[in-house]
Amino acid sequence: MGRLHTPALGALLLAVAAGVAWAMFRPAPRSPLTPAPVAVQARLPAPPRALLGAGSCSSSGCHAGDPAETQHPGRSAYSVWATRDRHAQAEQVLHEGLAEKIVAALAKQDRAFGQEPAYAQRACIGCHATARDALASDGVSCESCHGGAGDWLVAHTLPGWRTAGNALGMVDLADPFTCAQACAGCHVGGLPTADGFPREVTHDFLAAGHPRLAFELRSFKAAEPPHWRDRFAAALSGAAADEVPAVPDPFVEWALGRRGTLHAYLTLLSAQTERSVGTDQPAELPAGHQLPGWPDFATFDCYSCHRLPLPHEDPLASPGALPPGTPRLEPLQWALLDLATPAGQAAELARFRETVERQWWRAPSAQLLQTALMSLEHAAGPPKAAPETSGRLAQAVVAGVDPAIWNEAAAAFQALDALAARAQSQGASVTESAALEAGLKRLRAVLEFSTEERSGQRLQFNSPHQFDAGLVAQELARLAKLFESLPDRP
Ligand code: HEC
Ligand code: HEC
Ligand code: HEC
Ligand code: HEC
Repeated sequence: MGRLHTPALGALLLAVAAGVAWAMFRPAPRSPLTPAPVAVQARLPAPPRALLGAGSCSSSGCHAGDPAETQHPGRSAYSVWATRDRHAQAEQVLHEGLAEKIVAALAKQDRAFGQEPAYAQRACIGCHATARDALASDGVSCESCHGGAGDWLVAHTLPGWRTAGNALGMVDLADPFTCAQACAGCHVGGLPTADGFPREVTHDFLAAGHPRLAFELRSFKAAEPPHWRDRFAAALSGAAADEVPAVPDPFVEWALGRRGTLHAYLTLLSAQTERSVGTDQPAELPAGHQLPGWPDFATFDCYSCHRLPLPHEDPLASPGALPPGTPRLEPLQWALLDLATPAGQAAELARFRETVERQWWRAPSAQLLQTALMSLEHAAGPPKAAPETSGRLAQAVVAGVDPAIWNEAAAAFQALDALAARAQSQGASVTESAALEAGLKRLRAVLEFSTEERSGQRLQFNSPHQFDAGLVAQELARLAKLFESLPDRP
């Protein structure tokens, strides 16, 4: 890390870069604030639902309509996905240079990797393709997000489907908790697919050159070419309430997205842990590869190892703190949880984090993980802070992060971006919105990884090695003030 890379933005920066796009929503008439309590079994791989392939959604009367007709984006979902969505290329990238390079580097440690090209590696296609064999070249298609359509393809065209619910396995992506879980299953990782293909990008994959994974619901949705309605815009344009599904307040969407993402992350930890329990040997994959058990550094804070200690880590200055050099669990997952979860949940999750970090070399017990996962599944209700004014929430966001930890500052950016969208949805004036947007832009500028000119090419570092915590603190404080100056519009 800290080395120069081509200008492709790292995943984390994408989360920051994309986050400035303004997602705007109106407050919800139907409250999706409460994720239905999910049974513990939800963590087991879902029962295999037959996959039919993107082709079965592509008739022009269904989802292959003209993308220029924006009134009903669902009708051109296929056309938008096939022509503009990176997911449609996700299997294709396994045929290209970087994938070859990654597999060649992995093959140096594990000879099993040398036996097949990337597109045939079980360790890769679980996240890069929805289906196998002839359908694999569709890449990540409809059913990876919406669920296998075998049981509902016919039913979902019948009248009354929307209200009938989706006991047949269609995933409720309108619910941010569920949506984040679905996306993060690949963008963070997790349990293997129903047909047994692993979904993990390990530290070995990262060291071999795989892009770092990170996920945040609002910014990643905003970075997608949408094939869905912008519900807030629809509401502003006066569309009937029953025509567009209800949406939560953007801050609540942020909070539920964080919970869904953390759920996927803990599920990933449980997959690693299971391989470490009761055996010294990591489990053998069918193709002969081995995935590591606990600890896999990909789920820890990269910068606790990949940089020099920062001055604020003086152990004498903060008694009780973790010893310097202790790898911490990925801070993006843990920052601001007391704002993202209802009262009581955050404390329970913080205890989990603390217990694991104190003995990071030891796999957490299945029971500890189960408790943490269940606490998220049962975290019914909005974040405890939801009814607060944006000014008070912004203050809490800024007070809740350590500006010297880049990942925490990035998490604050995402929360403040959601608050800005919330202020807009509550009728902030054009001037107020412009000021918030400018403030977010300044914060983003101080978080961005630095670039350098090398042999006539502009290259970007893939870590925040020149990041100035003082400047970040200053921009955060400015933004908090800005939010506080907004008139109360609860
Ligand atoms: C846990 C799911 C997962 C697994 C397993 C996985 N990947 Fe990826 N891969 C991703 C995601 C998600 C991205 C996009 C990251 C981003 O931009 O945020 C990606 C990006 C890539 C890219 C960059 C694509 C581009 O457009 O630049 C390559 C190349 C790649 N993966 C190759 C591989 C190879 C080779 C393997 C197997 C050794 C593999 N991946 C395994 C999820 C996965
Ligand atoms: C990467 C994940 C992903 C893939 C792949 C995907 N979708 Fe979606 N789809 C979404 C999300 C997220 C939403 C929006 C949920 C919301 O906010 O209501 C959505 C919404 C929709 C909607 C509702 C549109 C509306 O707002 O009325 C339709 C219809 C749809 N998708 C069809 C498809 C079809 C057909 C494909 C394949 C060609 C596809 N999707 C592929 C994630 C995905
Ligand atoms: C089956 C695994 C899978 C699921 C589920 C999935 N993605 Fe992806 N996503 C990928 C892979 C693999 C790539 C990289 C594709 C490439 O680079 O060609 C990717 C790329 C992306 C990118 C582009 C990243 C970049 O660097 O430009 C965005 C944005 C994105 N996904 C958002 C989402 C969202 C939002 C959802 C959920 C609604 C989602 N994804 C669900 C696997 C998945
Ligand atoms: C506990 C310490 C630790 C953590 C946490 C950690 N790494 Fe590493 N990383 C190492 C060590 C040691 C090496 C060198 C040995 C190796 O390649 O595995 C390394 C090597 C690498 C390399 C290859 C560097 C090279 O010059 O070839 C990359 C890339 C990398 N890590 C990325 C990451 C990312 C991204 C994260 C966070 C998701 C991360 N690491 C988290 C310790 C760590």
